[in-house]
Formats: sequence, C-alpha cells, structure tokens
Amino acid sequence: MTLNVHEVTIDALVNNAGFGLTGPFVATDLEKELEMIQVNIVALTELTKLLLPGMVTRRSGRILNLASTAAFQPGPLMAVYYATKAYVLSFSEAIASELAGSGVTVSTLCPGPTRTGFVARAHMERTNLFRSGVMDAATVADAGYRGLMKGQHVIVPGLRNKLLALSAPLGPRKLVNAIVRWLNQDRPASAR
Ligand SMILES: NC(=O)c1ccc[n+]([C@@H]2O[C@H](COP(=O)([O-])OP(=O)(O)OC[C@H]3O[C@@H](n4cnc5c(N)ncnc54)[C@H](OP(=O)(O)O)[C@@H]3O)[C@@H](O)[C@H]2O)c1
Repeated sequence: MTLNVHEVTIDALVNNAGFGLTGPFVATDLEKELEMIQVNIVALTELTKLLLPGMVTRRSGRILNLASTAAFQPGPLMAVYYATKAYVLSFSEAIASELAGSGVTVSTLCPGPTRTGFVARAHMERTNLFRSGVMDAATVADAGYRGLMKGQHVIVPGLRNKLLALSAPLGPRKLVNAIVRWLNQDRPASAR
C-alpha cells in the first residue's frame, strides 16, 4: 500500500527507528554503518521533510526525534553511532528554532542506556556503560511523551543522564573521549 501524505492528516511524527554498532572503526562493517546512517539520519531527515510542510500549513504538529546522550560528545568504539546522534540533536534543535511561533514543535529525546532490544543488537551487553543505571523503556517513553506535549526542545530522561549531558560539552575533550571509550569497552571477565 502506498501512503499519500497529502491525503491524510498526520499530527505527530516520532522518528524512533535506529540502531548502533560497537567496535573500532578500522574493523567495523562498512555496510552496517551505511545502513545505520540511512536509518538514523537519512530516513529521519526525509520523514521530517515530508510531513513538516503540512504541519506548518495547519499551524499544528509535533515531531519527536530520537537522539541519545551519545549526541553530546564523540564516542570512541561507537564512532559512527555517536556521530549519527550528534546529527539528530543538531538538526532537530536547529529546526525547532526555525519553527518558533509556527504552532509546530520539534523535540529531541536523548536517553542514556535503556533496557530494549538495542543493547543486544549493538553487542553492548558486556560494556561498562550497561553495567548500572540502565533505565526501563516505559520510564524513558513517558519522559519523551511529556516533553513532546510540552514542546520541550531537548529531553534527557534521568538525573545521571542529565548530568552527563550537561557536563560532557564542558569537560576537556581528551578526557571526555577517554571516559566514553572506557564506557564503551567490555568489562573485564573478572568484573562480570
Ligand atoms: N536502548 C538504548 O540504550 C538507547 C539509548 C539511547 C538512544 N536510543 C535510541 O532509541 C531509539 C529506539 O531504540 P530502542 O532502544 O527501542 O531499540 P530497539 O528495541 O532495538 O528498537 C529499534 C527500532 O528501530 C527499528 N529499526 C532498526 N533498524 C531498522 C532498519 N534498518 N529499518 C527500519 N527500522 C529499523 C526497529 O524495527 P524492527 O523491530 O522492525 O527491527 C525498532 O522498531 C533508537 O533510535 C536508538 O538509537 C536507544
């Protein structure tokens, strides 16, 4: 079935689809990375472009784009994934500003580690990042929904994630990179 977006009224767009991949960039699978860019960046941009004009004409609409706390700094051992999420945050905040007063809001949800199918797909079960402080999907979705309804530009669920998002851009970049690299590494077998 082909959906003609000009024949239906879409009030809310949630660009949720996305996936990650771990490993040093020199060794990761390029095909998977290009697919990741297609899903995390290209599809999100295209869908937003497709639905936004109708929303602006109606002076009503809400868009929720899924980024991550990964958006706030580079991500050694997940270089492409972090970069895709930095794009999502930058792009979404920019158009949110352009749309001020238009009746259309654009919100970016930036979760930290969350218990979903994402972890297994990205092969992150053993990483330091997923060792503690993992949030459940319902809590994250609830924060996203509330933020979306308020028209909040950037939504970071959880206190730990908020602190990380605020402090990462301020810290010395080499140190921040080293910390994120450690977070994305597998825990030593003795610590599991
Ligand atoms: N879980 C976390 O720790 C975490 C943290 C920060 C941000 N996020 C972001 O949150 C969003 C949702 O992820 P999740 O945690 O709910 O993971 P998930 O359970 O793996 O769900 C990912 C979703 O993306 C869709 N998807 C993946 N690859 C796709 C492809 N090639 N084409 C079309 N759809 C595709 C999946 O559809 P199918 O089920 O049909 O494959 C699924 O609906 C993602 O953008 C992710 O980057 C997750």
